[in-house]
Amino acid sequence: MPYPYQLKTLQAYKEAYQKSVEQPEEFWGDVASHFTWKRKWDKVLEWNFEQPDVKWFTGAKLNITENCLDRHLDTIGNTPAIIWESNDPEEHHRVLTYKELHFKVVQFANVLKNNGVKKGDRVCIYMGMIPELAIATLACARIGAIHSVIFGGFSAQAIADRLEDAKAEYIITCDGAYRGAKAIPLKDVVDDALIGNHTIKKVIVATRTRTPVSMIKGRDIWWEDEIKKVETHGNPDCPAEEMDAEDILFILYTSGSTGKPKGVVHTCAGYMVWTNYTFVNVFQYEPGQIHFCTADVGWITGHSYIVYGPLSAGATSLMFEGVPTWPDAGRFWQIIEKFKVNILYTAPTAIRSLMGFGLDFVNGSDLSSLKTLGSVGEPINEEAWHWFHKNIGKGNCPIVDTWWQTETGGVMISNLAGVTPAKPAHATLPLPGVQPCLLDENGALIEGNTVSGNLCIQFPWPGMIRTTYNDHERCRQTYFSTYKNFYFTGDGCLRDENGNYRITGRVDDVLNVSGHRIGTAEVENAINMHAGVVESAVVGYPHDIKGQGIYAYVIYDGSHGDAHLSRQDITHTVSRIIGPIAKPDKIQFVPGLPKTRSGKIMRRILRKIAEGDVSNLGDTSTLLDPGLVDIIKEGRI
Ligand code: WTA
Repeated sequence: MPYPYQLKTLQAYKEAYQKSVEQPEEFWGDVASHFTWKRKWDKVLEWNFEQPDVKWFTGAKLNITENCLDRHLDTIGNTPAIIWESNDPEEHHRVLTYKELHFKVVQFANVLKNNGVKKGDRVCIYMGMIPELAIATLACARIGAIHSVIFGGFSAQAIADRLEDAKAEYIITCDGAYRGAKAIPLKDVVDDALIGNHTIKKVIVATRTRTPVSMIKGRDIWWEDEIKKVETHGNPDCPAEEMDAEDILFILYTSGSTGKPKGVVHTCAGYMVWTNYTFVNVFQYEPGQIHFCTADVGWITGHSYIVYGPLSAGATSLMFEGVPTWPDAGRFWQIIEKFKVNILYTAPTAIRSLMGFGLDFVNGSDLSSLKTLGSVGEPINEEAWHWFHKNIGKGNCPIVDTWWQTETGGVMISNLAGVTPAKPAHATLPLPGVQPCLLDENGALIEGNTVSGNLCIQFPWPGMIRTTYNDHERCRQTYFSTYKNFYFTGDGCLRDENGNYRITGRVDDVLNVSGHRIGTAEVENAINMHAGVVESAVVGYPHDIKGQGIYAYVIYDGSHGDAHLSRQDITHTVSRIIGPIAKPDKIQFVPGLPKTRSGKIMRRILRKIAEGDVSNLGDTSTLLDPGLVDIIKEGRI
């Protein structure tokens, strides 16, 4: 069997789970022994959650790209590693076998080296979903540079903030990116982001859209030209840099409850073992299968289940440049038929949106190759679950509802496809190595079943966040201080009569819009940048397709008085400061915000009004101006 640690039966899962709790070091030592190491570890785990200080496989040396590429060359070198499908259904797809991908990664790693990139340097990657994005990511890992991939939908300002926080020295981008009917001028966005930046030395630009770009002498270089240079001079080899188990592999920025996104840090060994282990077990991947994860590599889902998890397992990973609804809502289904996809891993938002287009699109394609379906990023409602199960899986494919986070590196709570029982809208049981628990507001452990509370994890797992880049205290504060000696997820959760977990959503000021994490404070900061805005408060409300929509209450002092135009201007500002994903769905102008006497905004009330639940707003007597609530209620959109 290719994956000796793949759990094939419910009994095997139970035994593995128990061992992972009772003898975690032995358990993970066994799993890790199936990887390629330059040097074995001295100790499997050292940890405390107070600092926090978590180290896995201490003393071990490795390079993750040897595990994702080199070790497969002799056995499955001619098997597709990446199949790439264009945004444009008419454009020919691309296939990169493991040998070809290895060649290209090594080649681009040499380009990076030629341009001065060294181990530990931060390289920002801002690209569309083309194979070069995966190649750039792996090339960084090859030479030990720290990649920080930024989703192609973020604005110049959002990039600038991330570049500054990471003190990034290099950017890899494209001239532009195709997304549905649009071509997004990525290089232009990078140029804007670089105004005032002092740390970036080089910008490497890959060609995709042939949109005109301005190349700045001495700073900007073309990917293709640089490849030619290494082709003519070069040694085609680029030895994999020897990395310590706990060296940083990447930084990925994500939103929290404050305005400033945090740079979540993952390290080499633990992340590798975790993404591989979870990939192989959750999806029950079998060699030869085609795995289609529809996420963007700019999010953690793409990092873990397009790039590192599948490739370290020698899988074939399908990478799709486009969107589910262009040229029409049958795009996913056509891709599944075209490549005989076996595993489809997508987000509830996509499912809900495609449900709305009716079954004609689905029935036009042969989906019989599908074996496993997966859901990620937000709670999946029962209606979407059943639609997915019946119409896409034809009643035959298990659905894995995978709960996890940027900070957890890989899946934490999920059924294992066809191995452990599924329950609609429930992530179900923890993976081996994951010890979840529920705590109440006072920090007391909630025992037993049929209960609800705040979801925490009480023991380290290999793929966990190690720090927030350059600000360890922030990591401690955010995740390890709410409950002493627990990692706090920020999610609320139920545990049913059989111990199955159901994640109900964030309990902090983080929204989940179309499966994208957005902090309310971040959106407020962006709205407040607009000249006419005095103050604002942002809350989420239930949205049929996006899961959550963004509702903004704004005190506005704009002079021209046209509310419609003012709303448009504010929306445009948010797009500029963060990106289109953070645009408010609704903006209500209000004369004031409900505040307590100590000046704290009563978000509970605003949330209820946004949800349309105005009958019982609870106690409003502690408000500075209780009359305001009626005015806000009346003006609700
Ligand atoms: C939410 C995405 C319910 C949750 C991998 C979490 C989910 C946040 C699920 C992390 C799920 C993710 N069911 N909620 N299966 N998966 N979430 O960092 O609120 O982009 O805290 O990672 O998404 O979002 P992130």
